[in-house]
Amino acid sequence: MDMIDPFGRSISYLRVSVTDRCDFRCTYCMAEDMAFLPKKDLLSLEELDRLCTVFIEKGVKKLRLTGGEPLVRKNVMHLIRQLSRHLDSGALEELTLTTNGSQLSRFAAELADCGVKRINVSLDTLDPDKFHAITRWGHLAKVMEGIDAAQAAGLHIKINAVALKGFNDAEIPEILRWANGRGMDLTVIETMPMGEIDADRTDQYLPLSLLRANLERQFTLTDIPFKTGGPARYVNVAETGGKLGFITPMTHNFCESCNRVRLTCTGTLYMCLGQEDAADLRAPLRASEGNELLANAIDEAIGRKPKGHDFVIDRRTNRPSVSRHMSVTGG
Ligand code: GTP
Ligand code: 5AD
Ligand code: SF4
Repeated sequence: MDMIDPFGRSISYLRVSVTDRCDFRCTYCMAEDMAFLPKKDLLSLEELDRLCTVFIEKGVKKLRLTGGEPLVRKNVMHLIRQLSRHLDSGALEELTLTTNGSQLSRFAAELADCGVKRINVSLDTLDPDKFHAITRWGHLAKVMEGIDAAQAAGLHIKINAVALKGFNDAEIPEILRWANGRGMDLTVIETMPMGEIDADRTDQYLPLSLLRANLERQFTLTDIPFKTGGPARYVNVAETGGKLGFITPMTHNFCESCNRVRLTCTGTLYMCLGQEDAADLRAPLRASEGNELLANAIDEAIGRKPKGHDFVIDRRTNRPSVSRHMSVTGG
């Protein structure tokens, strides 16, 4: 019954973008002036629940809600509460989300109550002015409040920082000490060429092999086999006693062990973050009350999951490898 793709990879991780909207406008993610999907095209929360449930029946063990910003979707806690029944039944091993943290102070306790154990919070700098500059609309203090509330509620946190040349590369040691010092893991991420943004990605792109070499001047990093089901490769940091992960889509292709697909808020399934091919699940979802059409459409889609992405950041063309923005699929 499990979903196995043409390369023998078992698909056990579903990422669901519950909204393409966001209350931030991170410069590497979005243009300031973004056109969002019309609300009428969105799946209802009940439809999202039905889709996720079919995926869980087909072998998904890990479900991550993303966005845009998942916590700005109206009544999203209702969906999370509904989905938590699959944790109770044991069918689902992990229910989690990736958030910018802006709404966490409101929702942290309820998330923990729904069985969420671990969340990922995006944070690229600890400087309030730089934070406002990179997110255009965000306030660091609000996110810090959210992180406090999440830790108080007992949630484990992984901090995600996109490594941006000349913006936060010099600050990564400080972010690492801060995150590990508070018992949080940190992952650094290579910027991926997705969607038209206002900035030039060739100026921003920082290969993590360089960052690692720099970090090794002040930290003792030891590779460890620790895995979360995501693409990060982790090291132990002797000086902090914590963990640091590297997500390197540009310099190292981790696609051979890919276990995931992503669903958008309109019911489109993307089999690879770095490819345009997609399958529409909204039509089979709405065509009948039973789930057979849907299950067949999912099998057909998994049957054409590509081998991997071919992201390139190239000054000559300076066009995104993938035209849709990260906020459509949530990474
Ligand atoms: P955990 O390992 O479960 O903590 O999560 P994660 O790191 O897989 O998820 P998260 O949402 O925190 O994403 C971190 C970064 O990894 C984002 O920039 C994502 O775009 C990126 N990422 C996740 N899955 C893939 C993938 O299949 N391909 C690529 N290229 N990037 C991915
Ligand atoms: N490249 C790499 N990571 C990105 N994110 C958003 N846009 C990009 C990009 N172009 C990150 C966010 C968040 C995660 C879901 O994806 O910072 O942590
Ligand atoms: Fe919003 Fe995340 Fe994109 Fe920033 S990176 S604009 S927080 S979706």
